[in-house]
Amino acid sequence: MIATMHVPFVDLKAQHRALAKDIESAVHAVFERGDFIMGAAVEQFEAEFAAFVGSKHAISVGTGLAAIELSLRAFGVGPGDEVITAANTFIATVLAIAAVGATPVLVDMDRDTYTIDPGAIGAAVGPRTRAIVPVHLYGQPVDLDGVMAVAARHNLLVIEDAAQAHGARYNDRRAGTLGNAGAFSFYPSKNLGAYGDAGIIVTDDDAAADRLRLLRNYGQRVKYYHAVFGTNSRLDTVQAAVLRVKLPHLDAWNASRRRHAARYRNRLPKRVHTPAETAKADHIYHLYVIETADRDALQQKLRARQIDTGIHYPVPAHLQEACVPLGYKAGDFPVTEAAASRILSLPMYPELTEAQIDYVAESVADALE
Ligand SMILES: Cc1ncc(COP(=O)(O)O)c(C=O)c1O
Repeated sequence: MIATMHVPFVDLKAQHRALAKDIESAVHAVFERGDFIMGAAVEQFEAEFAAFVGSKHAISVGTGLAAIELSLRAFGVGPGDEVITAANTFIATVLAIAAVGATPVLVDMDRDTYTIDPGAIGAAVGPRTRAIVPVHLYGQPVDLDGVMAVAARHNLLVIEDAAQAHGARYNDRRAGTLGNAGAFSFYPSKNLGAYGDAGIIVTDDDAAADRLRLLRNYGQRVKYYHAVFGTNSRLDTVQAAVLRVKLPHLDAWNASRRRHAARYRNRLPKRVHTPAETAKADHIYHLYVIETADRDALQQKLRARQIDTGIHYPVPAHLQEACVPLGYKAGDFPVTEAAASRILSLPMYPELTEAQIDYVAESVADALE
């Protein structure tokens, strides 16, 4: 019997402690300047994030949800259009499609990667389909060659939901830069997290970038002159200042997550299903999701050993109460549904120690005995 040790699911305080001095001085500089809305740090962060992912433009917004919604609006998606996305996603992807007045069309996932199945997209395309929103779920890049081929065949837009995939690579390009636009969330626990809500959109499309800058800021290019019906979804200058301090560390943090994933894989018992790695992509393990038959019992036993875990997500989007009007039923997406009762997210964050990983792996082995 091994000694008990607390392993939190994520540890935002550990990351803050490591950067506290730099963050406090960056935030203090904003206080001193007083440029709280669309201040200097916002434009600086946008330029730095665009350079980081390798896109021409980066337009910051208030949340990841707004990043997806405004991307769809900027490319003209709206009422009467259908937009295809995965049933296995966080609800925000579906809400963003509905928010522009389009109809979300959900499809099943690939069994190995937990991301949208390009074959299922092809089967769901109809005369009203305008766009695909592939989700790089858990930090695993979608099979974008497959998705882009379907999009090209049917002349569809591709808006990547990269909310869980900051810095992940596919065919040596960063997630978010392969489609028409990529949407990111900086929710605090994301691989790159702000100290509150925040998001950004990346695109190489000049016209869409211009429209996004209008849409997020009351539709105005010049103050009090409103060109379109926009909204208020701007990145706070304070959040931009925090994100500027953190961005240079992102690749190293992702490398740590990948190291932790490799250690989990080596130490977890063989009967546990561990995440797949594919030849074309670098999974950056926003979440480390395993599968077992007795998921709920395993979760309880880990809790008894002070190991915090999560389930992402317990109910697939098509079976959520909010999605009843979309008309789906149990059995529509068997791959997604079968996984939902088996998946368990183990603790994963850059500051996790080898001792903690070994303790979690041993505890899983003991629990399954
Ligand atoms: C896949 C996915 N899409 C969209 C979002 C929405 O981001 P936010 O919470 O910043 O609105 C999130 C995270 O919350 C997410 O995980």
